[in-house]
Amino acid sequence: MKASVDCQAPWEWMGNLDRRLNDWSRPKRQERHRRLVVVSNRLPITMSEDGTGSLQVRPSSGGLVTALSPVLRYNGGLWVGWSGATANVYLDGHLDEASIQLGCSLEAVTLSEKEVNDYYLGFANQVLWPLFHDFPECCKFDPGYWYTYVDVNRKFAQVAARISTADDYIWVQDYHLLLLARELRGIGVRRQTGFFLHTPFPPLEIFRRLPWGRQIIKALLNYHLVGFQTHHDRDNFIGCVEKTIPGVHYENTGRLIVVNDGNHRTAVGAFPISIDFSAFETLAMSREVEERANHLREAVSNCQIILGVDRLDYSKGIPLKLRAYRAFLERFSHLRGRVTMVQIVVPSRDHIPQYRAVRAEVDDLVRQINESLGTPGWTPVHYMYGTLDRPELVALYRAAAVALVTPVKDGMNLVAKEYCAANVDNDGVLVLSEFAGAASQMRGKALTVNPHDIDGVANALYRAHGMPASERRLRMRGLRSLVRRRDIRWWSDLFLRSAEEALYMGT
Ligand code: F6P
Repeated sequence: MKASVDCQAPWEWMGNLDRRLNDWSRPKRQERHRRLVVVSNRLPITMSEDGTGSLQVRPSSGGLVTALSPVLRYNGGLWVGWSGATANVYLDGHLDEASIQLGCSLEAVTLSEKEVNDYYLGFANQVLWPLFHDFPECCKFDPGYWYTYVDVNRKFAQVAARISTADDYIWVQDYHLLLLARELRGIGVRRQTGFFLHTPFPPLEIFRRLPWGRQIIKALLNYHLVGFQTHHDRDNFIGCVEKTIPGVHYENTGRLIVVNDGNHRTAVGAFPISIDFSAFETLAMSREVEERANHLREAVSNCQIILGVDRLDYSKGIPLKLRAYRAFLERFSHLRGRVTMVQIVVPSRDHIPQYRAVRAEVDDLVRQINESLGTPGWTPVHYMYGTLDRPELVALYRAAAVALVTPVKDGMNLVAKEYCAANVDNDGVLVLSEFAGAASQMRGKALTVNPHDIDGVANALYRAHGMPASERRLRMRGLRSLVRRRDIRWWSDLFLRSAEEALYMGT
């Protein structure tokens, strides 16, 4: 099928804008090191057929793409991933154009409808995702999903083998492709491989429910380096290795733990992912964003904005957050009319029933809160289900007095970091779930909360609302300095340096 593109250069905000704004002018890593081949389930653009033969092209949503796009732009190299489309769609022209905009080559893997259903919607998102986020009751342990997951990992491995050489570094991303290094070996291809998990890794008592857990642990030990977001995730993984593969040896070298299963040595470490701080900061300081931020504040009659930005997912705890906000308005009723919540929910995985259920619950709660507490001149919750372009998002970050980031479980949560990078006035307050990976770095400077504790979150909102300017500045300066120092470039350099170290250690 030959398809047409409906929207104009949708990746512009990711490519052109960042290129103009960010200050990554140092020499490209590829000039000094191996070529980087990133393999992830998604490419930074997603194509979808709309049923009439025309092809929609849009930027992919989510943390992985936000984080990896600048890494590829800086390092150069190749990005392999699913195009978002099913077989027989003509993609080449669109990929070439996007490659130029993004500053790296793109190689699309096409999946059949069955593969999308059983590998992506099935094993990845109805087995691994809920299991890794402590929602075992949402898991569908369907053996058919597992078989297709293995096949699709092999398919990605075949593409990675075809487009790479023995000198390249293959950097595999996330839970969709846990088996890729094993599959590469299976087809007799030797490459240096690293893996980074963007989600949490569960503790043994949750992981052991997975009928294919042992195969997965063994497959992960085919990588030369395996990276997690936090030490907690790393330790959970080591706990699962200890239990599932007896007799394994460990060597702690400080930053890395080397696991030796008798056949292969794998280095394991924690690498908290981040954002392109300077791109967000520069954009936040632009006149365009400042004007939009002022306009937003006026649009809500200068009420203090409490901001939530979440991909639609049960792991994000959006209904709990709305309940906590309602409790806050009920308990501190004098603040009605003086604060307002802006909640952006980015559509995601809407073929999966649990996601549709969360959407319905969120719609319902927003309606209830606005009907029961709203007044003719004041709307308690401004709710948007959709995506914002980056300047609009950054303007919201800049306009918001408080960011309320309360996932019940999250690998890192880059919204928390983006909010700080965009808070150039140093006057915002970050309220952050203790169950987000970001809390391991931001605790003490953010107000950390237990998202299940409705009263606790309501009290934190009250504290954020009344926090003296001097305390806000102190906390936000600390947060901004942390995200500035530990930005996405720090993260990718740390991982790739550790990959080199791992090679010297004979992994
Ligand atoms: O780590 C999970 C992740 O890949 C994130 O990077 C991103 O937020 C999200 O999932 C995207 O989900 P999907 O590819 O299913 O739309």
